[in-house]
Amino acid sequence: MTVAKIAMQAEEFRLIREYVAESMGLVLEEGTHKGLAAKLSPRLQELRLKSFAEYYSYLKFSPGRSAEWQRLVPLITNNETYFFREAAQLSVLVQQVLPALKESKLARGERSLRILSAGCSTGEEVYTLAMLLLESGGFTWDWDVRIAGIDVDERVLDAARQGSYGERAFWATEPHLVERYLKRQGDRYVVRDILRKWTSFTQGNLLDLADTAAGEQYDVILCRNVLIYFADQTVQRVVDNFGALQRSGAYLFLGHSESLSRTQASYRPLRFPGAIIYQKRETA
Ligand SMILES: C[S@@+](CC[C@H](N)C(=O)[O-])C[C@H]1O[C@@H](n2cnc3c(N)ncnc32)[C@H](O)[C@@H]1O
Repeated sequence: MTVAKIAMQAEEFRLIREYVAESMGLVLEEGTHKGLAAKLSPRLQELRLKSFAEYYSYLKFSPGRSAEWQRLVPLITNNETYFFREAAQLSVLVQQVLPALKESKLARGERSLRILSAGCSTGEEVYTLAMLLLESGGFTWDWDVRIAGIDVDERVLDAARQGSYGERAFWATEPHLVERYLKRQGDRYVVRDILRKWTSFTQGNLLDLADTAAGEQYDVILCRNVLIYFADQTVQRVVDNFGALQRSGAYLFLGHSESLSRTQASYRPLRFPGAIIYQKRETA
């Protein structure tokens, strides 16, 4: 059965765009309303709604609004990710950050490490971090290590928890690591238990991390390829949220096309060949 496409008027797009930006930070690009209308038309018909103005009200005010939000999110987010993305940054993590953290923790008599992948998508970044930590050999059984993935999109989190990937996810991964940490099942690769023991995945919104991550202090937060789609003032808000979850001296990794140049009050940039990372400043 073909579904008739319902047109989205400029004002309707403006309302939905504003609502999405307010709710999760993402700024829908101008000119994407036709594509969005095509993706959402079947849903409007299911709901027997005649226009996107009605859909906007449904999204905002109906008793089913949070379930509807979860249906909308996968249609508007970019979930592109793969194992060992942005290798230069990962080298800095392994060669500079992890040894420095280990030294300072041991000096304080601590043996715990907390890492957050903020906007983790289908989990490749989280499992990459687990592999890197295991390969580093620096964090053995007597360390309490947790690598948490947070994403706004329930659907990608289900995939992350399953931990089953196609070959394409490993184009930047050395084959011996795939062999060591994943087992082949048909044409899929499934993460081994050793990668699961430190890792967890939780639904959460970077605009409001108080419920999801309250009480945690993360030694490293990676928020890569997420803020690129956000407005400047929302980036500031998300970075403030991260600041509330980190002590002075903790590290923040952003995607290579994202920069904190306008929001450096709480983090200072550390420059390495091919990679910039950020370190939380001492609070006054
Ligand atoms: C392009 S993926 C990046 C995945 C991974 N960090 C990487 O660099 O490969 C961006 C992810 O951010 C998530 N995201 C976008 N806005 C979010 C928000 N407000 N809160 C939590 N996750 C969000 C999306 O659902 C998507 O899965």
